[in-house]
Amino acid sequence: MIKPDFPTTPTPEALVHSKKLLNHILSQIKTYHGEISFAQYMELALYAPQLGYYSASHQKFGKEGDFITAPEISPLFSQCLARQCQQILKNFPEGNILEFGAGTGTMAAHILIELSKICILPKNYFIIELSAYLKKQQYETIAALCPELLSRVVWLSTLPKFKFNGIILANEVLDAMPICRFQIIEGNIYEIKVCEKDNKLSYCLSNNILPELLEFYHAHHWPLDYISEINLNLTPWILSLSDILDTGIILLIDYGFPEKEYYHPQRNMGTLMCHYRHYAHTDPFLYPGLQDITAHVNFTHIAIAAMQSNLDILGYTHQAAFLLGCGLMECLTTAKNTEKEKILNNSAIHKLTSPAEMGELFKVIALGRHIEEPLLGFNLIDRRHIL
Ligand SMILES: C[S@@+](CC[C@H](N)C(=O)[O-])C[C@H]1O[C@@H](n2cnc3c(N)ncnc32)[C@H](O)[C@@H]1O
Repeated sequence: MIKPDFPTTPTPEALVHSKKLLNHILSQIKTYHGEISFAQYMELALYAPQLGYYSASHQKFGKEGDFITAPEISPLFSQCLARQCQQILKNFPEGNILEFGAGTGTMAAHILIELSKICILPKNYFIIELSAYLKKQQYETIAALCPELLSRVVWLSTLPKFKFNGIILANEVLDAMPICRFQIIEGNIYEIKVCEKDNKLSYCLSNNILPELLEFYHAHHWPLDYISEINLNLTPWILSLSDILDTGIILLIDYGFPEKEYYHPQRNMGTLMCHYRHYAHTDPFLYPGLQDITAHVNFTHIAIAAMQSNLDILGYTHQAAFLLGCGLMECLTTAKNTEKEKILNNSAIHKLTSPAEMGELFKVIALGRHIEEPLLGFNLIDRRHIL
């Protein structure tokens, strides 16, 4: 475990907030006879109404928050995505965009601004967001950056009922979805659950294994002792997107690996990470509600779920290759920038594309239906990388 060594102690108000959430989680543990799954814990810690990390009204994104995402680094990221959207929307004048987990709304605003410049706007830009607080922030961001486009933005609480044509987007959303944690001890699998000990949160192991976890365990070779995680909701989520997608693409961007790397014998403590004020550590019980909890994404799992859902795998690559394929450098040269903006852009490009930063750890996968043309952001489709 990376020992938490917080750069700043939470304020007294923040500590009160965290204690309220802790009490709520402890009461849930009691309701569930002394233990909840790690996924239930993560759901509560991140999304409990008003109290969870994403639901509560403190700053999460940017310098003053806990982490920074690509759309917050520079509009260049969203401009590249807009170019990928344009390739699909040009064939569907009535096409839509649907974004999951839109964070501050920055990416939505910059995609819309870019598409409006070339007069290829989606009919609607739908957003599905779990956090009421972030929905409000998204509204305010879009109203401030492109008020003339706000009427196209529609917030949904469930997937649309109609057949969808266009683009479904999710940047850094899958890593924030609750995961099931498991431990292998001397070759036997246990589910890592969350229970209460001395009025504090604690881990406990259960050998009452869910059938889908057991099936997954038997389908792989494991070291004798190992800890990792799996998103058991991923396949149903992809299936639900496939059910509504008539023609178009699903573009998922996140940090992660193909399965061989994800469950590499040396990655024997899994990929669970917590973020507080740009500090990364591995204790999810520390100050619940004040820190982000994430896990890397298994891109092979996405690819297999896509095949089971009859979706085509249209592309899989690193973020750097995707952005360059979408014309990152052209976005730069077409803009008339001041010297200061040029310096900021250079620094942003470094963060977005350098292998030492986001360039290689972040991957982009495109799934789709009825799309013949090769996608802009993907020069090479090689399934062996993911399967
Ligand atoms: C790490 S933030 C990324 C935000 C934004 N996409 C960005 O790149 O800045 C994760 C976002 O996903 C949202 N989220 C997580 N699970 C979700 C789900 N199942 N449906 C919709 N939004 C979800 C969170 O509330 C939050 O807005």
